[in-house]
Amino acid sequence: MSKVLLVTGGAGFIGANFVLYWLGKYPQDRVVVLDALTYAGNLDNLAAVKDSDAMTFVHGDICDQPLVEALIRDQKVDTLVHFAAESHVDRSITGPDAFIETNVIGTHSLLKAAKKVWLDEEANVEGHRFHHVSTDEVYGTLGPEDPAFREDTPYAPNSPYSASKAASDHLVRAYHHTYGLNVTTSNCSNNYGPFHFPEKLIPLVITNILFDRALPIYGDGKQIRDWLYVEDHARGIDLILEKGRIDETYNIGGINEWANIDIVKLICGLMNEAFANDSGLAERFPEASAAQAGNAESLITYVKDRPGHDRRYAIDPTKANNELGYQPAETFETGIRRTLQWYLENESWWRAVMDGSYRQWIEKQYG
Ligand code: NAD
Ligand code: TYD
Repeated sequence: MSKVLLVTGGAGFIGANFVLYWLGKYPQDRVVVLDALTYAGNLDNLAAVKDSDAMTFVHGDICDQPLVEALIRDQKVDTLVHFAAESHVDRSITGPDAFIETNVIGTHSLLKAAKKVWLDEEANVEGHRFHHVSTDEVYGTLGPEDPAFREDTPYAPNSPYSASKAASDHLVRAYHHTYGLNVTTSNCSNNYGPFHFPEKLIPLVITNILFDRALPIYGDGKQIRDWLYVEDHARGIDLILEKGRIDETYNIGGINEWANIDIVKLICGLMNEAFANDSGLAERFPEASAAQAGNAESLITYVKDRPGHDRRYAIDPTKANNELGYQPAETFETGIRRTLQWYLENESWWRAVMDGSYRQWIEKQYG
């Protein structure tokens, strides 16, 4: 049976990758994207489906409860997949309010809208699902020998970002226990891939090498993250929607832990190799002197550590593996090369988000 999905934050990094994945795999379904187009949202991310009858874009805020109710009711939405969030830890340190507003109040507003239409009005109630996209950061930080996060690891968020996501996870759970809303939650590790906003580590390093700018390493660079190719996150959510049990949470990850400094050195090496193998790159990126000289790692610069910096994240995906048959399709070796290639081929995308021309376009379009 075909579905109608409401995808919040569908113009952001993971949301857009999810929409492209979904419409590629299920062309008979309809997807309504609701996105406020904050600095992180970009309609170019949806260019491949923008003229498709299967995708409708709505410019709006998840805190606008009447708008969300109308969308669920009028578009006959049966499945809500909630990505919209403020997502950058560093921004949550300097400006936590937006995180509380969108991640906590916004999620609660969505839950109220879903409850009202699906449960109170009983519209499209059959098979309804509220899937909440969360993060492994809610579990806090691990020591070097600690076992990886499981679904029953106690919550211990350390940044305003992770605390706001933890709060939203609890609200989602409460709307099942109290009102009977059909909910599922996924807690995923760090994603990477196309359309990743260049404020996050991997795209920041790639684009800074192309500008010959310093590669800032916080603290000693030995903090560990567990990286997953973004399409494999979409695949995990797909399996949860298909086979996941209501009111369950699933940890999604690919058992791929890397110290930050090692990942930065890996990207430097791949970039040196790309410039050595393709003389056209030096012409296209004349500023990239270090990469042209085969020495991108000379740009590495140690800087002051992030306050409250979590030392290590690691996901134990056993439950998703066993219950859902989840396995990532991409290895890190192939995924990081695909990602680098995407950034080399999509210079106009990252230049537009970095130089402000995309924002100017939004203001003209939407005021
Ligand atoms: P992102 O910052 O790239 O995109 C967020 C999107 O949400 C943007 O399109 C933005 O315009 C939209 N948005 C923000 N506030 C909104 C509001 N009030 N109303 C409507 N839309 C709004 O984020 P991302 O990296 O794609 O993350 C998506 C989700 O996945 C988040 O919930 C995040 O917590 C979670 N997550 C991210 C990662 C990761 O590595 N990036 C890992 C695990 C989980
Ligand atoms: P980030 O991509 O911001 O994701 P998160 O904080 O959600 O894990 O950062 C990944 C890791 O890289 C994190 O340990 C912080 C570190 N980092 C740097 O060392 N330098 C940077 O410039 C950035 C953005 C991150």
